[in-house]
Amino acid sequence: MERQHATEQLWKAIKYEAEEEKNIPRKERPDFHVTPPVGWMNDPNGFSVYQGEYHLFYQYHPYSTSWGPMHWGHCKTKDFIDWEQLPCAMAPDMEYDGQGCFSGSAVEHGGKHILMYTGVWEKKEKDGTYKMRQTQNIAVGDGIHYEKITYNPVITADMLPKGSSFEDFRDPKIWKDGNIFYAVIGSRNEDGSGQIALFSSADARKWSFETILDSCHNRWGKMWECPDFFPLQDRQVLITSPQFMEAEGLEIHNGNNAIYFVGSYEKEKKKFRRGSANQIDYGLDFYAPQTVETEDGRRIMIGWLQSWDNYLTPGNMRWSGIMSIPRELSVKEDRLIQNPVRELEKYRKNKLSYKNIHLETEDGEKTLEGINGRSFDMTIEIKKGEYDFFKILLAKDEKYRTALIYDRKKGIFTTDRLYSGMVKDLLSSRSMYVSTENDVLRLRIIMDKYSIEVFVNDGQQAMSSLVYTSLKADQIAFCCEGKAEFSVEKYDIEVH
Ligand code: FRU
Repeated sequence: MERQHATEQLWKAIKYEAEEEKNIPRKERPDFHVTPPVGWMNDPNGFSVYQGEYHLFYQYHPYSTSWGPMHWGHCKTKDFIDWEQLPCAMAPDMEYDGQGCFSGSAVEHGGKHILMYTGVWEKKEKDGTYKMRQTQNIAVGDGIHYEKITYNPVITADMLPKGSSFEDFRDPKIWKDGNIFYAVIGSRNEDGSGQIALFSSADARKWSFETILDSCHNRWGKMWECPDFFPLQDRQVLITSPQFMEAEGLEIHNGNNAIYFVGSYEKEKKKFRRGSANQIDYGLDFYAPQTVETEDGRRIMIGWLQSWDNYLTPGNMRWSGIMSIPRELSVKEDRLIQNPVRELEKYRKNKLSYKNIHLETEDGEKTLEGINGRSFDMTIEIKKGEYDFFKILLAKDEKYRTALIYDRKKGIFTTDRLYSGMVKDLLSSRSMYVSTENDVLRLRIIMDKYSIEVFVNDGQQAMSSLVYTSLKADQIAFCCEGKAEFSVEKYDIEVH
């Protein structure tokens, strides 16, 4: 491959990933979810349209399955399901990003693909000590090769209101409105809590501080990472991924989690008024989502299917990190509705459906002919009935199982992966309140080997979790306490 401008670090990463990817069997990977060719992946970055294709970059450390000096991995797709791996796009090879090319975003402009990202570096102080600094930088490319501009860094923390942190200033999300570029960036103010800064620019080089769009006043965590800010129908949505949250009921989970606010935006005054805070995904593993607007006007979100505090990747795997299925967003009564991209339906094969199955306690764990597997798109409708619990057991064999449990009396839905083969004392279950109409619960379950994404009641809620159960455990079973009736429609997803 010809590559004239790559620095030594970038070239090394490109050669390494090309070589190592060949040694990882395809069948060990998810079939239709993005994974890194080798090594570690976290946040989605630069999710954007460029020359009619969707590009996705990600936080990437090719050399090990744990976080390290951040590179930007890269892939693209025409339909969000069939992805093509591209060479690593950026390495931490400049003074201003020598400690890492942290998260950022991308936009198409004048035939070029513009990346905006956070450079992390250690600044030597007069007294000889080093201080971590985060600044915003630009790289420009053609869909494969990217050059960092000589003008970098383009935004520094001294442009923020007084008292704002110099160390925590990251994850720009860039977009264009008419001729103006805007970027929202995560930051911390003098009370130590998260705030979202808005900047603008006429050329993506010279930026001006506009305003603080929102700040958390020490509720919903500390640092607000990975903001995204976009109109949806007639509302405005702010997404952010706070660190160190305290739990609130079943709505907000402790730790790092992604939340959203649906509100209104007065564009001229740059004033955002938000509604309540809600969890984006109620599962064990979902963080740092980012969105893109498609050419047909859909808003698609992708997130990192992992939580920082629950590292589950088995020791023998050469890669770590899975992206979520891209999700179409809409708003209903100020709640975010999310459903798998409609393009997934093109890849459905081998339809199997069972209608009105009767199930009662005495049936034990009921299996249905052909309803099994580890890569599928399955919709289950649990009808009005007289039961207390309904359970779906996935990735099951004699030893292992992950349970999706609906407690009908309490209206609580749980993912429980305790018996999925986990060998560490990590969080294994999470619950959320669900509501039903006429006592009917609809669950669409997208499973892709190690990921379980549940979409409840046509996207009203999502719950995503990872399970690294041996791929041999591929049975699915149903059981209940009481008398229930349900229907199943299942498709295999075949991409390759
Ligand atoms: C979020 C995050 C970002 C940062 C990146 C570093 O998961 O902490 O704030 O840019 O990961 O990899």
